[in-house]
Amino acid sequence: EASALSAQDYDLGDHPDFMHKEISEQPAAARRVLGGRLDDRFATAHLGGIRLEPRELRGIRRVTFLGCGSAYYAGQMGASLVEELARIPADAEPASEFRYRNPVVDPDTLYVAVSQSGETLDTLMAVQELQRKGGRVVGVVNAVGSAIARQCGQGIFLHAGPEVSVASTKALTNMTISFALLALLLGRVRDLSAADGRRLVSALLDLPDRIEEVLRSEPEVQAVAKQFAGARHMFFLGRVRGWPVAREGAQKLKEISYIHAEAYQASELKHGPLALIDSSMPSVVILPDDELYAKNLSTVEQIRARGGPVIVVTNADVPGDLADAVLRVPRSEPELDPVLLTIPLQLLAYHVALELGRDIDKPRNLAKSVTVE
Ligand code: G6P
Repeated sequence: EASALSAQDYDLGDHPDFMHKEISEQPAAARRVLGGRLDDRFATAHLGGIRLEPRELRGIRRVTFLGCGSAYYAGQMGASLVEELARIPADAEPASEFRYRNPVVDPDTLYVAVSQSGETLDTLMAVQELQRKGGRVVGVVNAVGSAIARQCGQGIFLHAGPEVSVASTKALTNMTISFALLALLLGRVRDLSAADGRRLVSALLDLPDRIEEVLRSEPEVQAVAKQFAGARHMFFLGRVRGWPVAREGAQKLKEISYIHAEAYQASELKHGPLALIDSSMPSVVILPDDELYAKNLSTVEQIRARGGPVIVVTNADVPGDLADAVLRVPRSEPELDPVLLTIPLQLLAYHVALELGRDIDKPRNLAKSVTVE
């Protein structure tokens, strides 16, 4: 079985648990998913597992990402990359919802089935439903030889290495990087300029080192986790590129700390959730230094004006007293910001769960891959 783990994969080395080990492996995992896939000369990506001619690639009119849990949130990051870089309408949907709603399957859509394990039943069934209706589906999968990889017959392997912890970290990061490669490929057969292609290629090559930098801030994240581990509820807020980041951050915290966390579009705050803000409701605000910076900054101010504690996750040069806690990540290109902004949220969930004495690798009620109805 290609997905079976060897004894070495169970060796924790210096790490207290697999989640910590897998978070730390992200720079190496990111180097593997990029390896041999970037083309300097034409400023595009080579994805040997996707067997579509340039003419077919140009014929794609929509890209739909399907997955469950973190794979779905990664898919949402993918949709935003495809829309921005290739200017193709793109969306993401939980594979479970898709398979139960009698979807209209469109021959000009590229469906992307996303799964770490390659064994999630809902995702596999969505693929089969698609194929039965003549849909074109590629897999973005970590486990070589898994059911979804075999069923799709073509796609992108994540090369993240075996992931043991139920909470996905390095696989999710590699999913997002793969989607950037796919978006680059789709963009460069359309209107993405060579200059923009080169900008992305060099930012992607740089990404593993930047991930390493984020990991060096673990002590700061741990201090923030100690400060907020007593919370009963938490908001995670982001706009556009920051929105799936917020969703994944909330997912991580729920999964391993059992703290109730809710993600919201920062733009929707005033349309309801603002009523919940008080001193017992901390908010994590995703604050990338992009064209929505001023909008997100005013979200921080609105929450603080109502006595809500705020943790900011940012790559902007903000003053330390902007919020109750500021978690900093290095800059990348704006389209790739979600990759780096997600990592402090993994560490935050991890250290909160550690503080609360949770079983980090095996959270209650959850399984690493859900292969039953
Ligand atoms: C389970 C896990 C999640 C994971 C999801 C999808 O629910 O608890 O952490 O994101 O399955 O798994 P997959 O293997 O398809 O990526």
